[in-house]
Amino acid sequence: MPRLAVWAIRAALLYLALGFTFGALILWNKGLPLHPQLWRLLPAHIDFLLFGWTMQLVLGVAYWILPRFQTRRGNPLLAWLAFALLNVGVWLVSMAPFAPAPGFLNLGGRLAECAAALAFAAHAWPRIKPAGG
Ligand code: HEM
Repeated sequence: MPRLAVWAIRAALLYLALGFTFGALILWNKGLPLHPQLWRLLPAHIDFLLFGWTMQLVLGVAYWILPRFQTRRGNPLLAWLAFALLNVGVWLVSMAPFAPAPGFLNLGGRLAECAAALAFAAHAWPRIKPAGG
């Protein structure tokens, strides 16, 4: 398995654990109120699970299994850029409720996530081809 896939899939599993933990805390807090500020974890819960876990798992597995050019996997720099941007985006959006200017962090995070999708699409596009082609 290539190094990027290892990093992305391990990171995805960590996000899964954290995302479920935050979800469980929020759920608990709904039934037996612990602290009203726990609701601030909702954006982290959502982004950790939708992008940190699901999308990152897709990115890691796709980088690994898409057709190669002999041994090369297209332009790996674009895929690493997508990995970095996705993670920066997830953390910016998740930290937004704790920041003095949440709107800026939210916007920056969403832009980073969009840029990650574009970078990964640019990486993967030439690899979408019949096997052996
Ligand atoms: C891959 C799994 C999951 C995904 C993608 C996910 C995604 C989401 C999303 C998008 C919301 C916002 C819903 C809305 O605002 O209408 C949400 C809310 C919530 N999630 Fe999850 N979730 C997942 C798993 C879990 C788990 C395992 C738990 C609990 C153990 C949990 C607990 C909650 C709670 C308590 C809320 C707030 C509900 C409310 O607004 O009253 N989630 N989740």
